[in-house]
Amino acid sequence: MAKTLRVGLIGYRFMGRAHSNAWRQAPRFFHLKANIELHTLCGRNTAGVQSARAQLGWQHTTTDWREIVESPLIDIVDIVTPTDAHAEIAIAAAKNGKHVLCEKPLALDVKQAEAMLAAAHKAKIVHMVCHNYRRIPAIALAKRMMGEGALGRIFHYRARYAQDWLVDPEFPLNWRMQKATSGSGAHADINSHLIDLGRHLVGEFQEVCGLLHTFVPERPLAESPVKGPRKMGKVNVPDAALFVGRMENGVLANLEATRFASGRKNHIEIEINGSKGSLFFDFEDMNRLKFYNGDDLKDRRGFRDILVTERDGVQPYVGHWWPPGHLIGYEHTFVHTVADFVNACVEGKPVSPTFEDGLKNQRVLSAVEESAQKGRWVKV
Ligand SMILES: NC(=O)c1ccc[n+]([C@@H]2O[C@H](COP(=O)([O-])OP(=O)(O)OC[C@H]3O[C@@H](n4cnc5c(N)ncnc54)[C@H](O)[C@@H]3O)[C@@H](O)[C@H]2O)c1
Repeated sequence: MAKTLRVGLIGYRFMGRAHSNAWRQAPRFFHLKANIELHTLCGRNTAGVQSARAQLGWQHTTTDWREIVESPLIDIVDIVTPTDAHAEIAIAAAKNGKHVLCEKPLALDVKQAEAMLAAAHKAKIVHMVCHNYRRIPAIALAKRMMGEGALGRIFHYRARYAQDWLVDPEFPLNWRMQKATSGSGAHADINSHLIDLGRHLVGEFQEVCGLLHTFVPERPLAESPVKGPRKMGKVNVPDAALFVGRMENGVLANLEATRFASGRKNHIEIEINGSKGSLFFDFEDMNRLKFYNGDDLKDRRGFRDILVTERDGVQPYVGHWWPPGHLIGYEHTFVHTVADFVNACVEGKPVSPTFEDGLKNQRVLSAVEESAQKGRWVKV
């Protein structure tokens, strides 16, 4: 009989909802090597966490994450809190022998990420960072094609993550705009995804040169009084982060993360150019991968549009869902992540991206920050 793994989830808002859905759906659509129990949901506010429990389908609640990491009933700790809480919870969970799935970026800084990896190694747990975009079927297909050498020698990795929710200067300050809670704002939050995809698809970053900028340095506090003067708070992280880099394999990289791209909501564009062809991906059209094949007959060369929905293992992940052409969305990327994580927990095998990947990512983030501060190139 398959064993049952009990999950404790810490945080219940945006990612809390996405992960709850993933824990529920994964056993329904994937062959998991264990049964899953949505055991305990944690949040700081009693009424809030209880209402989330009922809506998201958890059995129990707590307002203290220590109850989850110390409970002998829990096998997996899933951390979806703001970044400042990741390290303490993950290290405590590892010490208690729990497998840990942690949202990105892994930590506030390199030092924390090192401590998390050391704790995970020491406890011999299975650990994973939730860079869910790796498991978009089109990206997984791109990974397969890169592995097969479909693009030949690689010249460029270009990536852009653009949103616009901070263009309005009246948008209130929240944890994402504070160094103490987010690390480095848009840089840590969304460049970390582009760095992860670059490392996953192309190679390791060797040196970087970055530019970080805050367009709106002060914002109203969320708890400002309705009447009377508004209270303002300082934004002490970048709103936008751009960098160029050289990878160990000689590939040139340019990455851009911004929340000031009016009209762009969650625009993730990736382009890889090689001697034999190119790949192009746009998250807002996430079921498709564009492939330019230099081996095509000269008179009909051009980017071909691959609809990544073929089943029976022809294309990764997507066959677990619907017949060809029946599209999938954002939430499915979390289901794929959870499914691979559960099977790795049962097998006791590493599953990427591990905390080691999270640490390497953090080193790139940190090198870009140092480069922007010093105004020069920095080795990763
Ligand atoms: N993988 C992705 O694409 C993706 C997308 C968005 C956010 N994230 C990451 O997920 C994490 C959470 O982001 P979010 O958007 O869900 O934030 P959020 O503000 O929507 O939710 C944070 C949750 O954490 C809870 N929380 C905060 N501190 C806590 C504590 N000490 N103990 C217990 N609960 C606590 C809050 O109550 C809330 O429920 C961040 O690390 C973020 O970078 C990842």
